[in-house]
Amino acid sequence: MKITSAKFLESNSQVEKCPPPNLPEYAFIGRSNVGKSSLINMIADNKKLAKTSGTPGKTQLINHFLINEAWYLVDLPGYGYAKVSKSKRKDFDKMITNYLEKRKNLVNVYLLIDSRHEPLKIDLEFMEYLGENMIPFNIVMTKIDKLSSAKYAKNLLTYQKKLLTNWEQLPQFIKTSATAKVGKDEILKEIEIYNTQLNHLDFRNL
Ligand code: GTP
Ligand code: MG
Repeated sequence: MKITSAKFLESNSQVEKCPPPNLPEYAFIGRSNVGKSSLINMIADNKKLAKTSGTPGKTQLINHFLINEAWYLVDLPGYGYAKVSKSKRKDFDKMITNYLEKRKNLVNVYLLIDSRHEPLKIDLEFMEYLGENMIPFNIVMTKIDKLSSAKYAKNLLTYQKKLLTNWEQLPQFIKTSATAKVGKDEILKEIEIYNTQLNHLDFRNL
């Protein structure tokens, strides 16, 4: 699938105020600074679409982008950012879980993981949460330009081994770099398959 148009629609703190759930929706989620907004820009081929920053905690609201006039891409705040106050962190977490549990047209979640790190408790717990709530997800490994392919392969294996101690089946892993423009086709191809499968569904009644 080629992206022919990508528009920022609006930012919201409440899921109830988000655009009408009448199109298939895909959300990028992960720890603060993992590269969610950068990946959206890389996919849409527009560096200015989503706001990015070297400082964690940049995205603070639920941001909707309309792609090809046919589906929504959503940029969410990061979870687990240690430098914001406890109460603000709670507000972010609540915003994210409310969105995930209530957004009726959400088709799939792309959970971003920094490929440089060992599996982190906060990410593993977030996956548990998605599993418990039966929210489908893929894992997107980010910033692969920052490590050698041998190191990436090693980290991927470590991650998958760790997951297999708790999960019967592994989710799909997608290798990406916003900087080196890796992973765009794979993500878009998957979204296209979902969109085609959902074609017969009438989102207007959600
Ligand atoms: P929050 O909105 O704070 O939750 O962060 P985010 O997950 O949206 O991260 P963002 O896209 O703002 O990127 C964070 C930092 O990582 C920025 O300095 C980006 O330039 C950098 N970054 C993002 N993706 C990549 C990548 O693929 N490679 C490299 N080298 N840097 C990246
Ligand atoms: Mg962001």
